[in-house]
Amino acid sequence: MRTRRLSAAFLAILLAVLTLGGPPASAARSRAHEVTYDRYSLKIDGRRVVVQAAEFHYFRLPSPALWRDVLEKFKAGGFNAVSLYFDWAYHSPKPGVYDFTGVRDVDRLLREAERAGLYVIARPGPYINAETTGGGFPAWLKTVEGRGRSSDPGYTAAYRDWLGHIDPIIARHQITRGGSVIVYQAENEYAVNTDRQYMADIQSKARADGIDVPISHNQCCDNASWTTDWSSGLGAVQLPGVDDYPQSFDCANPASTWGPWGEGVTERASQGSPVFAAEYQAGAIDTLNAGYAGCRELTGPAYMRFFYKNNLITGGATMFSYYMGYGGTNWGWLAQPNDAYTSYDYGAAITETRQLTDKYDEFKRQGYFLRAVTPIAETDPVTGPASDNPAVTTVTRANPGTGTQFVLVRHADRAAGSTDAATLAWTTPDGGYSVPVQVRGREAKVLVAGYDLGGQRLVYSTSEIMTHLTTGGRDLAVLYGSDGSAGRTVLRYSSAPVVKVLDGAVTSAYASGDLTLNYTHTGLARVLITGGGRRPLLLLLGTEARAATFWQAGSVLVRGTSLLRSADVRGDTVSLRVDSARAGDVEVFGTARALVVNGEKVAATSTPSGSLLGSLPGPRPVRLPALTRWRTMAEAPEAVPGFDDSTWTVADHTTTAIPYAPKTQPVLFAEEYGFDYGNVWYRGRFTATGTETQVALNAITGRRGTYLAWLNGHYLGSAAGGTQADSDTRNPDPGPGNFAIPAGLLKPGEQAVLAVLVQNMGHNDDWTADDNRFKQPRGLFGAAVSGSSAAISWKIQGARGGRELVDPARGPLNTGGLYGERAGWHLPGYRDGSWQETSTPSAQTPGVRWYRTTFGLNLPGDQDTPIALRFGGELPVGARVLVFLNGWNLGQYSGDLGPQRDFSLPEGVLDPLGDNTLALAVTTATGTALGPVSLVTAGNVRGGARK
Ligand code: GAL
Repeated sequence: MRTRRLSAAFLAILLAVLTLGGPPASAARSRAHEVTYDRYSLKIDGRRVVVQAAEFHYFRLPSPALWRDVLEKFKAGGFNAVSLYFDWAYHSPKPGVYDFTGVRDVDRLLREAERAGLYVIARPGPYINAETTGGGFPAWLKTVEGRGRSSDPGYTAAYRDWLGHIDPIIARHQITRGGSVIVYQAENEYAVNTDRQYMADIQSKARADGIDVPISHNQCCDNASWTTDWSSGLGAVQLPGVDDYPQSFDCANPASTWGPWGEGVTERASQGSPVFAAEYQAGAIDTLNAGYAGCRELTGPAYMRFFYKNNLITGGATMFSYYMGYGGTNWGWLAQPNDAYTSYDYGAAITETRQLTDKYDEFKRQGYFLRAVTPIAETDPVTGPASDNPAVTTVTRANPGTGTQFVLVRHADRAAGSTDAATLAWTTPDGGYSVPVQVRGREAKVLVAGYDLGGQRLVYSTSEIMTHLTTGGRDLAVLYGSDGSAGRTVLRYSSAPVVKVLDGAVTSAYASGDLTLNYTHTGLARVLITGGGRRPLLLLLGTEARAATFWQAGSVLVRGTSLLRSADVRGDTVSLRVDSARAGDVEVFGTARALVVNGEKVAATSTPSGSLLGSLPGPRPVRLPALTRWRTMAEAPEAVPGFDDSTWTVADHTTTAIPYAPKTQPVLFAEEYGFDYGNVWYRGRFTATGTETQVALNAITGRRGTYLAWLNGHYLGSAAGGTQADSDTRNPDPGPGNFAIPAGLLKPGEQAVLAVLVQNMGHNDDWTADDNRFKQPRGLFGAAVSGSSAAISWKIQGARGGRELVDPARGPLNTGGLYGERAGWHLPGYRDGSWQETSTPSAQTPGVRWYRTTFGLNLPGDQDTPIALRFGGELPVGARVLVFLNGWNLGQYSGDLGPQRDFSLPEGVLDPLGDNTLALAVTTATGTALGPVSLVTAGNVRGGARK
């Protein structure tokens, strides 16, 4: 190891940097560490750490190779931790059966987090909410006796089995065993009708399973629930945290929305543990179908600056977990039907197709600051500088040991736009100053005073600190301010230093030990300061945008490139792994004299800034094939009277453990017969009298679901299925559909066949833990034929194999019970040669029709080019299109569900170097036209996680 030659002092600094910045990014297992905490912060091996986490759902990215990409992007964006829900339903097709392989390989996930240098907050539920089906509860849990999220014995046995499987995997990745899991969360926003014994039991189980890191909980809704204290008594957790979504989910009105759900200052939940923003809003669910662009704007940089910095300084929080960092895709039947459609992009900093946004830049500016300026991990509120302008307010905290002050300067105006100037009467640790500041409406800055910045003494700055580091015997600091605003930085020296302005317009004056630099934030200014009794300092003074062009990995600072994944210094050579979205500069600040980028040498020259400057090419353009040669086949033979349903399950139960009373007998709930996800078919036979007038059906599909009915092969029509709201009052008539029977359709004495196709949009969550609402069944709730008293004998068919998984790789949520799904029409190997040719998916009559095509790809191996499937034309109403890529159900397209037109086809499911099979299953109630279908690139960079 090279480190043997390093001095003890350097090793201590290195260790501090590594510890504060997250675990060392390495494939190798490091030694065991200890996690402790006090009222200020978490500590790893006694060193304080500000936890800056972002939420990631592996189950929403069914491509383990891409997990690395997202996690590396988190790390590069200034996060030192990732928060992970573990989704019980995703792993368990039936009681006692669990799968942790392939896309479910959470051991690999935790290894990737360690490799990326991210701490982990592990959140295995058992209940997780997360807008995922059942809130993480498998559908089979509906048939287990007892209230969910309580100490009832049936539920207890079930959840203990889940924890018994997931906990040991988490346990072996704890930091105490050389991994990177630092916190374990018990349950989720457990607030109403709580059962403290249950909270205590989850934790005993976790401890018995080997969890020895601190246990946390995320209280909901600004302590609004009856239990305001999870920090003492039965069920108490060590790290009680609070969830905050101050912007609400009004993605339709992003510009006019500003904190309708409060200031978002996380409450201190315990005197003995840090203030923990367990879930802090970093995007939004799109309940209004406004589109995720609106959600991204609602929670954009202005919001992030104002609310996050307020939480840091007014709240004193030192543990943050932002929900979501990357949202992903509700592929298959993963969505909980009430709040989500296929895309779970969430308006997050990283888009569903893994693109970085301006929100990412803001996270980077804030996250780098938290990582670099370590006194922020231990602060108390103090009296700080007063402002002479009531529109500009201040809040101050200081580190009790170093005296370093952190002043939040905010514009009190809630409207964006205007700029106000103020003068702060500021008593810094280094003396009293009159400090001019400029703040825009809705802007918030954290200004620092009295800080030992590397080998320098920062008296104060009206620029914000993004990062600083020491390399090659000098300090580097990146400071920033809004474009066009004035900035002043004062540094202390024992004698006049030499100031050399390398770039930009910066004036300097030295008096009484203070070097005062004045400038306007515009572009990027560079100032080299030497002498004055300190080691050299290169100050990089930029606008917000220019600051965001910097990347830091360990002791290497890079400007340019679209991403810096890692920097490895060996001798004189620095090797970078980067993404480049376009040709441009790469400038490296450090000790290296030679540059390697993505494995290739890059010619680089030395600059007056002491950096290495090279240039990188952008990606080559990528051409995608047109989707022209389709084949099509109509299905739904189940509707035809003579269809052979002899292998179907007889539906004749008269009682059920699901606590919902069916409208008619027998019980026809899909879960009752083991069909948990996707479409389900029913066929009912009765002897006709010829006097029948109407078929009276009732179905529960979940929100936005429909069902279609046929009698003796004649299409009767469709109706809307029941929804969540019905469950609150146990509506006895949740999803009625009454269909007149045409005269003459039924013949006296002959057998009639009623066929019903019921969509299952996913299962309700159990957010309020109050009414077993997650147990609301799916499928037929009642069925009767008016004008006849004949008994109907029923058969049911859902996904092939039911809970006996026939497709373990794609898992229980991938396929339902459409005829084509049961016959493998979605699979790549299916022979569709006998199907009719068509140039494009098009109009059709009510029922189900499939379209298949193949396309070959040969994407450049040294580029990352996410691909999406785009539906053009009008959003179809009354029709649902299931999108299967190589057999994987990647979503549902319909104007009834949401505004989504682009469906992410993640590499891994998509073969970038081979043939791919696309299958569309179109179910329509009225006949519908589909617009043109095409492949589009959703980004294109040279680089990618594989490099
Ligand atoms: C929280 C919950 C998360 C997620 C979020 C909204 O209340 O804990 O799981 O549902 O709301 O996206």
